[in-house]
Amino acid sequence: MKIYENLYIDAITDKILRIHSEKAAEMESFAVKGGLSLEGGLQKVTSSVWDKDVFATKSLEIQISSVGVMEIFDKGGKLLCADYAGERREVQSLPEEELEQMRQEGHIVHDQSETCKFQVFKCLAGDEVVYGLGDKTGFLNKKGYDFMMWNSDNPDPQVENQTFKAMYKSFPFFIVLREECVYGIFLDNTYRSYFDMGYESNAYYSFGAVGGELDYYFIAGDTIADIIKGYTALTGRAPLPQLWTLGYQQSRWSYRSADEVLEVARNLRKYDIPCDAIHLDIDYMEQFKVFTTNEKTFPDIRKLSDELAAMGIKLVSIIDPGTKLEKGYDVYDEGIREGYFAKDEDGEVYQNVVWPGDSVFPDFTSKRVREWWGSLTKRLTAKGIRGIWNDMNEPASFDGPLPDNVVFEGDGKKRLHREVHNVYGHLMAKATYDGLKAYDGRRPFVITRACYSGSQKYSTAWTGDNQSLWAHLQMSIPQLLNLGMSGMPMVGTDIGGFGSNATPELLSRWIEASCFAPLFRNHTAKYTKRQEPWQFGEEVTAINRKYIELHYKFLPYLYDLCYEQTKTGLPILRPLVMYDQHDRETWECNDEYMVGSKILVAPVVQQGATARMVYLPKGVWIDYWTGERITGKRYIVKEAALDVCPVYIKAGSILPTYRKMQSIEPDQIDTLVLEYYPEKKAGRTGFVSRWEGSSRYEHYQDNGVDFAYEDGEYNLYAFTFHAMRKNGLQVEMLHEGYGNKYKTIKAVVR
Ligand code: GLC
Repeated sequence: MKIYENLYIDAITDKILRIHSEKAAEMESFAVKGGLSLEGGLQKVTSSVWDKDVFATKSLEIQISSVGVMEIFDKGGKLLCADYAGERREVQSLPEEELEQMRQEGHIVHDQSETCKFQVFKCLAGDEVVYGLGDKTGFLNKKGYDFMMWNSDNPDPQVENQTFKAMYKSFPFFIVLREECVYGIFLDNTYRSYFDMGYESNAYYSFGAVGGELDYYFIAGDTIADIIKGYTALTGRAPLPQLWTLGYQQSRWSYRSADEVLEVARNLRKYDIPCDAIHLDIDYMEQFKVFTTNEKTFPDIRKLSDELAAMGIKLVSIIDPGTKLEKGYDVYDEGIREGYFAKDEDGEVYQNVVWPGDSVFPDFTSKRVREWWGSLTKRLTAKGIRGIWNDMNEPASFDGPLPDNVVFEGDGKKRLHREVHNVYGHLMAKATYDGLKAYDGRRPFVITRACYSGSQKYSTAWTGDNQSLWAHLQMSIPQLLNLGMSGMPMVGTDIGGFGSNATPELLSRWIEASCFAPLFRNHTAKYTKRQEPWQFGEEVTAINRKYIELHYKFLPYLYDLCYEQTKTGLPILRPLVMYDQHDRETWECNDEYMVGSKILVAPVVQQGATARMVYLPKGVWIDYWTGERITGKRYIVKEAALDVCPVYIKAGSILPTYRKMQSIEPDQIDTLVLEYYPEKKAGRTGFVSRWEGSSRYEHYQDNGVDFAYEDGEYNLYAFTFHAMRKNGLQVEMLHEGYGNKYKTIKAVVR
């Protein structure tokens, strides 16, 4: 529907509007629809009317002024979001010679000269906070800062300031929360884009891109959860993972030989550390040539993976996009023969430098190339590799950045690097996901560094090269929470920090802070101090064991959240504001998080601290370690010695748990223990109720490996605790797909 000159509006649902230019309507989206992506399963709009200057759906009303200024109201007439039509505040830029002088001293100063092809300005009311925008550094609330979407590999220590406008990932999506309302905006544009969330002025925020078309979605709802549901209905949701991928994973750049990997595995078992995977970083390859293995140091990876399998450990290997330029190397030769690599303007294959030296870059915008790349994964799975870690896929390059005009021919639709840079990693992850699914058949386990909106459909992600710094441990929490609110639920950081040297205290606090992370991996760079769980002596080993065991104990809860996420897009790790968005105290809570809606974690992230303030939102909370019941909506001080990560359970919760295990073998799991945390313990009266109240919990269970669940092979249980029943627990089967899995379902009242 045309609303103004080159401005169109479509109602996708009653609460999701698409605002776009005429041309955008014909363009293919990498995130939302078209051949490259999945449909989000949207409920089509039920009714919309267009009457002179007002466009309305059942839930929203849009008014357009005679000069094209748009205001969006809810049905009660409340203004949700308005275009800003006032003056712009000029940000003074320095003359070039002054900038140059600053550069000479080593300051990183950004070239401010790039102009956007279009920019949208929206009013700031003053009371809002802004969430989302993917993996950007800094705090949970992004208001007041400006950001760039341009997938970037910058291993310098990340900080919250201007140096890090861009990170590895591009999620051009944000959520604005106010006292009275909440909404989301998703700019579906893959070019370099800018998000100024009130840096230039207090009166407005803006977003725009240097190319492509104006094309954004406005998503309304009552809660942050509604906005995330809407956004993930558009861009897709993460599929169910293989169960073992939720387990602990050990990595280090670099394990140099099969013997070293076996040694790590033996140590994991010797020190009784549950673990499901060891990662092979680039050194398993022959001269960093992707899809090869070093015959000297890793002579028989099949044998290695079998030996590890006997210890319950799987192998995950890294694959970078940069393909070594070397005649006689079959991946290169085939790619050249078939025209699979990106080219320069003159039609020559484009080269740059990455780990293998001179390298070329597969054109993942082409389906043919993606299928080829996907089929190469067979070389790894045939050796027993069970997951693929996609790195350097921004793409990173050592000999200067890829020029804007590198050509990606796609399948007959030529695009330049400036258009597809931000989806390069996204499409590589898709190629890997599709390849693993087609040839291995199990649920693909992919980890990617670079992302675009919608990457959640194909891959998990880690936050890239952090450092063993307390500031980075602190930042890991808002980073993971904002990724989750950007539709990316399966995320984690390098536990212990990648660059620099961890200390015993830092590694201890980091494993504690990450103990519910869906991607649960300790990884570090070569030349740094080793940081496997046993490297710092008994105390730290015991702390690692304690929190890794805690993670495994709550595995069925994490898996239930994965299942819930497939239906709703809601993240697994959530900021407190998603628990109670009307409580302002939660809006900027950077150092606590919820796991689903029942567990609150308040890790210690300050060096030297052995106590911390914990904010408990409304309701009654049970200290997981002491059993103390605490009424919330207040701060408490919690003593937290080095081995204590404060964890609280929402009273009234039922939580499913598994027994202690060293690794996840779905076939061997036959006991489910339900922990019930009643609102009130009422003491023992004979055999009958020791608590008051009743609670219900739904639990999902399937084979944890393949796609049989899509044909109904899963079980859905409902557990209800009734205080007045003799044994209290009632088990109902909501869906029985392949027979009750559990031999024993036990209940424990906590
Ligand atoms: C990049 C990755 C890091 C990896 C290293 C070597 O820095 O981010 O995780 O260990 O490359 O492959």
